[in-house]
Amino acid sequence: MARRRPCELLLALALASAATAVLVAAGAQAQETCSGAVPAPPRRGARVSVASFGGVGDGRTLNTGAFARAVARIDRLRAPGGAELYVPPGMWLTGPFNLTSRMTLFLARGAVIRATQDTPSWPLIQPLPSYGRGRELPGGRYISLIHGSGLQDVVITGENGTIDGQGSVWWDMWKKRTLLYTRPHLLELMSSSDIIVSNVVFQDSPFWNIHPVYCSNVVIRNVTVLAPHDSPNTDGIDPDSSSNVCIEDCYISTGDDAVAIKSGWDEYGIAYGHPSSDITVRRITGSSPFAGFAVGSETSGGVENVLAEHLNFFGSGFGIHIKTNTGRGGFIRNITVSDVTLDNVRYGLRITGDVGDHPDDRYNRSAFPVVDALTIKNVQGQNIREAGLIKGITDSAFSRICLSNVKLSGGAPVRPWRCEAVTGGAIDVQPSPCTELTSTSGTSFCTNSL
Ligand SMILES: *[C@@H]1O[C@H](CO)[C@@H](O)[C@H](O)[C@H]1NC(C)=O
Ligand SMILES: *[C@@H]1O[C@H](CO)[C@@H](O)[C@H](O)[C@H]1NC(C)=O
Ligand SMILES: *[C@@H]1O[C@H](CO)[C@@H](O)[C@H](O)[C@H]1NC(C)=O
Ligand SMILES: *[C@@H]1O[C@H](CO)[C@@H](O)[C@H](O)[C@H]1NC(C)=O
Ligand SMILES: *[C@@H]1O[C@H](CO)[C@@H](O)[C@H](O)[C@H]1NC(C)=O
Repeated sequence: MARRRPCELLLALALASAATAVLVAAGAQAQETCSGAVPAPPRRGARVSVASFGGVGDGRTLNTGAFARAVARIDRLRAPGGAELYVPPGMWLTGPFNLTSRMTLFLARGAVIRATQDTPSWPLIQPLPSYGRGRELPGGRYISLIHGSGLQDVVITGENGTIDGQGSVWWDMWKKRTLLYTRPHLLELMSSSDIIVSNVVFQDSPFWNIHPVYCSNVVIRNVTVLAPHDSPNTDGIDPDSSSNVCIEDCYISTGDDAVAIKSGWDEYGIAYGHPSSDITVRRITGSSPFAGFAVGSETSGGVENVLAEHLNFFGSGFGIHIKTNTGRGGFIRNITVSDVTLDNVRYGLRITGDVGDHPDDRYNRSAFPVVDALTIKNVQGQNIREAGLIKGITDSAFSRICLSNVKLSGGAPVRPWRCEAVTGGAIDVQPSPCTELTSTSGTSFCTNSL
């Protein structure tokens, strides 16, 4: 008889829900997160709205002064636990403004912080010492729309509100070569620590979107970064000479690399000597005409101890691109990229030593970068045109490059691997790996690193 008595049914339900609870717990355990990478911010002791400082969210009124006054109030208040700057629903047109320590910038649902297109009104700031000049042009650079320097405990979050750079005027100036200085980022935090950026949309940045430089303890999670594929240099998230950075659960579709880890440029970056280290990137989905996940090309301070996992890129130029150049010096070492799915990507993987320009012709011709101990594993790609290129520098061969369980297929046969000046190992790689990775001593590193 199939019908159960009520007590049996209850028991069955209890067992089923216990089993579900176990499954949920196991699932929760398996899902690693950035939680704990940054101390939890204290409960803010005060809250101010930009609307209380003369701000008008009508899309026409310029709110630069209102944002500056609101931040200045937070700075003076010294509220226990800091304070929140609330941005209500509305279109808040503004020029660049600075943040302060112990504050949360909170964008309500339907709140848009929109950058003015009056480009001549943007203040200039000094070039970064690790770049020696603006990234695009000599001299200073336009300050980012939202900026902070020397800060501690800053949170930028909300209910999926938007930070809109209205970058098209800047992209046009770039195309017409009428820029006077390097374009501004949407968000740049310099020499700051304990930073959380979450639950916001970054859109149409004039230049790189999110740029933490000389920072430590940074979490960027659950953000959306959008810019047209033909918008120049609109990188998604670029940690630069920063340590203990955790980036997860982001959707990024822009005109340049989705995530690129950097550390300064040629002789300036070498002299400044500030690496990017201890960086986790996970569960990133998106699309870019350039790379999904990149290291470089500016790596003169060194990049090490990076784990990038559970990446999913489609309609892109490169799945993974690790790039440097002669004159750049520095190092790229102990990088693991794993569990990657690629669809409709031109090149699955590129690791190259001849990428990117130089700040000037004073770069050191014998400053060769060291590229060592890179593990790329569990990569599944379909509609891939070319497996990849691994091209070291003759005077500084790339070493211990390990490919494991990398399977790339295409509509047409995938063009084979091309390798030069590289040693390492390859286990279970399709199409079959280049001889440089099968005939050298690198296989033991490969086996040990898995
Ligand atoms: C904003 O911060 C930058 C960098 O610290 C500084 O140069 C600039 O003067 C500040 N702007 C304002 C309006 O305080
Ligand atoms: C991610 O952001 C969205 C939109 O702000 C929010 O609804 C959701 O709860 C966030 N998820 C997490 C895990 O914070
Ligand atoms: C947040 O906004 C972006 C861009 O409009 C959208 O794609 C995303 O689905 C939104 N997320 C949530 C949780 O509402
Ligand atoms: C390599 O980097 C990982 C982080 O991805 C770190 O846990 C590990 O300790 C590093 N190994 C060495 C030898 O530094
Ligand atoms: C150029 O780089 C090489 C290799 O790092 C170094 O030995 C040399 O001192 C550098 N030269 C200058 C002028 O910095």
